[in-house]
Amino acid sequence: MNAPWKTGNRDMFAAFVCDDVTLDTLRSVVIDMGWPPEKVMKGGLRNAIQSLAITASPAILMVDLSESGDPLNDINALAEVCEPGTVVIAVGQVNDVRLYRDLVASGIQDYLLKPLSVGHLRDTLVQAQAIFAAPRGDGAATKRHIATAVVGTRGGVGASTVATSLAWMLSADHKMPTALLDLDVHFGTGALTLDLEPGRGLTDAIDNPSRIDGLFIERAMIRANDNLAILSAEAPISAPLLTDGTAFQQLVEEFRHAFEATVVDLPRNMLINFPQLLANMQVVVVVTELTLGGARDGIRILSWLKSNAPHALVLMVANKVPSGVGEISRNDFETSIERKLNFVIPHDFKAAANAAKLGQTFVGANRTSKTVLPLRAIADAIMASDADRDAPAGAKPTKGIGKGTKPARAAADGGTDKGSNSVLGRSIKKLLSPKSKTGVAA
Ligand SMILES: Nc1ncnc2c1ncn2[C@@H]1O[C@H](COP(=O)(O)OP(=O)(O)OP(=O)(O)O)[C@@H](O)[C@H]1O
Ligand SMILES: [Mg+2]
Repeated sequence: MNAPWKTGNRDMFAAFVCDDVTLDTLRSVVIDMGWPPEKVMKGGLRNAIQSLAITASPAILMVDLSESGDPLNDINALAEVCEPGTVVIAVGQVNDVRLYRDLVASGIQDYLLKPLSVGHLRDTLVQAQAIFAAPRGDGAATKRHIATAVVGTRGGVGASTVATSLAWMLSADHKMPTALLDLDVHFGTGALTLDLEPGRGLTDAIDNPSRIDGLFIERAMIRANDNLAILSAEAPISAPLLTDGTAFQQLVEEFRHAFEATVVDLPRNMLINFPQLLANMQVVVVVTELTLGGARDGIRILSWLKSNAPHALVLMVANKVPSGVGEISRNDFETSIERKLNFVIPHDFKAAANAAKLGQTFVGANRTSKTVLPLRAIADAIMASDADRDAPAGAKPTKGIGKGTKPARAAADGGTDKGSNSVLGRSIKKLLSPKSKTGVAA
């Protein structure tokens, strides 16, 4: 099991900064990300080099170049001691586009100008996390694919609305051949949303996993647009689901060859029964409402994901958020789940009615509505998590920082997941009280 701030035997994050203002700003963001603030250390590039020469590199490293007389030379020295895959972000006070270009050419992911803003820092770290989580390959030789699971904390929170909208945007706006797998086998609404008949494809796959291959996929999936195919079922409610999950694993594997993106509408019970499905997902979108039940189960699902899918980028999305007072305020909700929400989608009856009337996805039916902007941003974040592999061959340096002259250490994780999100309370008061950290929910 992995602690949230660990990935294998590496820390998720470390920073070496030169001044107190940067230190304080960065620490506040790092706490929000669930990482230990003491990993933000005083000291610049030279301290980073000394420290990394004798310890494992973090997944994401932030270095302050302010006290470096020759940043490019020092960055090359840093490359010598950095393990492969490290995402390095530089900060400094020199506003010079040539320096920026040279740093990027030497493998630096980004260069942030001081003074740092909290919002910009947070965006940069979320993106760095996504880049670290994205599978690496040699670009041209590895087929590009991004797999996303969408899970609701509670029934009816809008997980399927988000899943169908994401699949639609990836296929139509981002032009990615996309598979939508609706694993709500009895009550799924993926096909219904798109005004399609689900057919027998998924039922056949469950009944005969050995038949699943490229040809089966081609025949069994229902086309929603030129780039989007869907596999779903409306299994009779008299027929219990009898499967060991092999079919789902095989389907996801076949999608990897046949499509560039997979979106899985993953009901919570399927998450519990077939946790191995998460192994192939790079991004997990957790959809919730701002309710007491949503907070409790958000905590439990986030904790579960930290233990069972530490590689995945987890995006926390509040949906159906009322414009006025709701059951729990955004602040209280974020305090209880001990992390920030990444995206907030308003409750919009009109948009939902429009989608139902037109037989289109929530986003497809309301293209000009402000309500769908956060959904677009989620699709962009999913695409960004794949950005490392988007770069044309040769655009990314094969040498340089994070490319690894220092050998990677074997992943030997001794960490236990005590889960900072392991609060299980029966009331919001309890959820918010630090003293209530008694139950462990995953
Ligand atoms: N932002 C929103 N504003 C208004 N209505 C919404 C919004 N998002 C979803 N809905 C509506 O909420 C209902 C439930 O949505 P959906 O089926 O996507 O939820 P779910 O989490 O998948 O539910 P289930 O637990 O049954 O799988 C639908 O009628 C949908 O149109
Ligand atoms: Mg659903």
